[in-house]
Amino acid sequence: MPDRVLITTDDPEQAVRINAALEQARFDTAMVSSLDDVRQAVRGRQPPPDAIILTGGLHESTAQRLLAAAHEHAVSTLGLVEATDDDPARIGTELGLTAWLVKPTDPLEVTATVRRLIERRRLQQRTGILGESAAIQEVLVKIEQMAPVTSTVLIEGESGTGKELVARGIHDLSPRRGKAFIAVNCAALPETLLESELFGHEKGAFTGAAERRLGRFELANGGTILLDEIGEMPASTQVKLLRVLEDRSFFRVGGTQPIQVDVRVTAATNKSVKEAVALGRFRDDLYYRLNVLSVYLPPLRERRSDIPLLVRTFVAEFAKTHARTFRGITPEAMQILVAADWPGNVRQLKNLIESMVVLAPEGEIRASDIPRDIRERTRTMPVRIAEVQGVPREITGQELEFIFRTLVEMKVQLEELRHRIEERAPERVEVIEVGGSREQGAGSRRLEPATVDPLDSTPEPDGPVVYKAGMTMSDVERAAIDAALRETRGNRRKAAEVLGIGERTLYRKLKEYAIS
Ligand SMILES: Nc1ncnc2c1ncn2[C@@H]1O[C@H](COP(=O)(O)OP(=O)(O)OP(=O)(O)O)[C@@H](O)[C@H]1O
Ligand SMILES: [Mg+2]
Repeated sequence: MPDRVLITTDDPEQAVRINAALEQARFDTAMVSSLDDVRQAVRGRQPPPDAIILTGGLHESTAQRLLAAAHEHAVSTLGLVEATDDDPARIGTELGLTAWLVKPTDPLEVTATVRRLIERRRLQQRTGILGESAAIQEVLVKIEQMAPVTSTVLIEGESGTGKELVARGIHDLSPRRGKAFIAVNCAALPETLLESELFGHEKGAFTGAAERRLGRFELANGGTILLDEIGEMPASTQVKLLRVLEDRSFFRVGGTQPIQVDVRVTAATNKSVKEAVALGRFRDDLYYRLNVLSVYLPPLRERRSDIPLLVRTFVAEFAKTHARTFRGITPEAMQILVAADWPGNVRQLKNLIESMVVLAPEGEIRASDIPRDIRERTRTMPVRIAEVQGVPREITGQELEFIFRTLVEMKVQLEELRHRIEERAPERVEVIEVGGSREQGAGSRRLEPATVDPLDSTPEPDGPVVYKAGMTMSDVERAAIDAALRETRGNRRKAAEVLGIGERTLYRKLKEYAIS
């Protein structure tokens, strides 16, 4: 199917020429005079266009509304800036255009730019890296450029900004894509374990090394390795890594034969390695080797314009995962999310959206569903200290991820429990005959929980009697078992069936309550 491009007609002459050039290049085009119509096309139920060209009127409020909608729906925009505007780059960034050209434009250049934008969009779909901000677009350009070569890449950015996503993207677009991508967290393991993890060990290399074990570098042969939290790598491992980078060879721990590998090295860090070098904690020669190519991911609070798109995408994704019918998010709630600080960046936003999709009672995220610390923009992060062999260290991104996941799962389970309890709530416990009714026939078995004074209680009418104040869960259970046994005339199999429990559970409970 040809790619669909909408062209606004604010500058009719440009629009007509561009339209002709795009048609010639086999794009499916349409010229639209009203920007609001374009906005409807972006937000409507039909798949949105692949790109929009704004030929003029960039400073009008309708254009700005359109650009906001395009951002949120991940539609690329190309704006044609007037030659009289003195700083097109600033205008482009401020308005949030994906790309811009200065008028009068060459229709062929416009066509080439549109093609590039659409290709970049495909790249985003492949890598899962969302964002229309200039920062993310720059990162995507770099990924495209870095993928085909084998040079080492250093990826820097705060925790949760997408460093691993970028490393994977580079691998997936590279000729190595069919081979392994292996991530190793250099901060999570103590020195000796890290070396054996990276380079493997020979049988008997140390106590407990019962078998030869291949290291991550060998397992990644032909593919890509990501050395995460590289700044935390111990000095002795740094030396060995330097050797790998210099001649792609290393020794397994306890080994005497050098092992040769073909691995592309990417490294990530959420702290400044440069600073670590200045402090003498990181080898400068290694730093230069690692930093041949570099990518910097700015924190989410510095690219807030990406938040609506991220939110919308995550909401749709998690509504599907958790099979929830979900309308979306109210504008007020979205505003709060856009203004929040996000010290845990995209990961924090993503985890929060997941928990809200699961827990929001109204099938949409409202301002009141957003936790207070986010609403009040307080920068609280979970406790970030763990210990390795008694030495405190920061909790890594992956561990944070695990903690967030566990919390979300707990919330999901709690929510399920709540639903179940609510579903059951209307049913009254109607199988119990409690104390009371002393007038009942002598044959009737009575239950007199210790906490209920039978004399105090008003006599119950004949038949099922409900829970009474003072009874514990065991009392209730015991009474239910008793009633069921009575109803089934002591047939335990049937009683278990009536109670909806297994026969063995019933036996256990009979024993527990000493019911004969
Ligand atoms: N631009 C983005 N678009 C979509 N998802 C993103 C983006 N950036 C990050 N994510 C998601 O956020 C989560 C965290 O990303 P990732 O693990 O790559 O971060 P990181 O920088 O490696 O974090 P850490 O330093 O804590 O290891 C992942 O679920 C990832 O898919
Ligand atoms: Mg990471």
